[in-house]
Amino acid sequence: MAFVSGFHGAAVAPQKKAAAVSVKPASLTMAAAADGMVPDMAKRNTMNLLLFGAVATPATIGLGLYAGFFVPPKVGGGSGGVVAKDALGNDVKKAAFTNNKNKGDRELVQGLKGDAYWLIVGEEKGIEYYAINATCTHLGCIVPWNRAENKYMCPCHGSQYNKEGKVIRGPAPLSLALAHTEVDSSDNVLLKPWTETDFRTNTNPWWK
Ligand code: FES
Repeated sequence: MAFVSGFHGAAVAPQKKAAAVSVKPASLTMAAAADGMVPDMAKRNTMNLLLFGAVATPATIGLGLYAGFFVPPKVGGGSGGVVAKDALGNDVKKAAFTNNKNKGDRELVQGLKGDAYWLIVGEEKGIEYYAINATCTHLGCIVPWNRAENKYMCPCHGSQYNKEGKVIRGPAPLSLALAHTEVDSSDNVLLKPWTETDFRTNTNPWWK
C-alpha cells in the first residue's frame, strides 16, 4: 500500500534529521511557509510526525494534504491561544477528538508556534487541561508516545518522559513543555501558553 511506505519514511525521519534539528532547535516557525518558501527541516519533521500520528485512522491521505500545515494556526481565545490543528490541517474539535477514545489516549496536534503537541483525553470525554509539547528537550526530536510502556520515549538518544511529560531518563535535561487547553463555544480545542508553576516539578516553567 502506497501509504504504508510513506508511513515508514515518516517513522525514520526524526533519527535521520536529529543533527539538523539540533542546529535549529525547538521553534518550528511558520515564516518560511508563509513566504512561499520550502519549510525548514524542523518544520518538515513536525509535519511528518503529525501525519505519522494519524496513521491509525483508516484514511487515504495524499501528499497534497500536507498543504494544511502551511497555514498558520488561527488565533483564538484572546490571550495568545491558537486553535489546534489535526494532521490534515483542520481545526481540532473536542467531540471528534474524543470520539472512540478513552481517558489517557493522546494524539499529536499542531499548536503554539507551530510546534507538535500531545493532546490528551481527560475525564468524561473531555480534554485534559494540559497539552504536552512533543519536542524533546535534548536536541529537538519529536517524542512519540509508547502506550505499552506508558511513557514518551525519544527515538534519537533514548530520553524518556512519564505520561505527564516529566523527564525520567536523560540525556534530556528538562521535562517537556506544557500548554493549557481550552474548548471554545464552537467546540474548537485551543492551546494557550503555560506561564505559571510547572505542576510536575513545582518550579517556574523553563519555556516561558
Ligand atoms: S533528541 Fe536526544 S534524546 Fe531526544
